[in-house]
Amino acid sequence: MQAIILSGSRNPAGQTARAAQALLAGLTAAGAQGEIIYLPECAIERCRQCDAAGWGTCRTAGSCVIADDLAGLSDRIRQADLAVFATPVYWSDLSESLRAFLDRLRRCCLHEAAKPGIVGKRAVGICVAGGGGGGGPTCAVSLERILRTCGFDLVDVLPVRRQNLPAKCDELQLLGRWLATTEPA
Ligand SMILES: Cc1cc2nc3c(=O)[nH]c(=O)nc-3n(C[C@H](O)[C@H](O)[C@H](O)COP(=O)(O)O)c2cc1C
Repeated sequence: MQAIILSGSRNPAGQTARAAQALLAGLTAAGAQGEIIYLPECAIERCRQCDAAGWGTCRTAGSCVIADDLAGLSDRIRQADLAVFATPVYWSDLSESLRAFLDRLRRCCLHEAAKPGIVGKRAVGICVAGGGGGGGPTCAVSLERILRTCGFDLVDVLPVRRQNLPAKCDELQLLGRWLATTEPA
């Protein structure tokens, strides 16, 4: 079982990374494989809203005109058995890098050509409120909405706070083990 973890944090030693690594530890302990990709290191432009109506080749072809890392990362999601989306909570919402990625993936997934390997794929969301600790549940609602619109089979979205990070890491390890040892429902 192969997992891909897309992180909207730029810090591989930060709180979002700790949460993502906990899930990955659970997955690997149960025999799965996975890697974490830090989206701020990737080239992901924001959507250009190409035509006058705001659509573009996303709607007509299921692909984006912008030649950056979106297509390659989308294909890596297609090749994986599980997709994990981890974000630091910014303004009670997704970080800019994950937002830019998912905004464009969501558009492409409206077209049949983009759906294989995405629609029905198991996914997990992690939202880490590492400042005051507020906004995790609001961010989780935002992440749930966009991942469901993409068509993922959303297993869980976990709000995490700086104050409960150790307990949530235990939970994420457990979730990782469970995911690695169960078939999609
Ligand atoms: C622009 C911005 C907005 C933020 N908004 C929130 C917030 O609404 N709630 C919160 O608890 N922390 C907030 N923070 C703090 C981040 O959640 C915290 O720095 C993050 O979890 C750290 O994750 P990292 O260590 O993976 O980078 C914000 C940080 C930034 C930069």
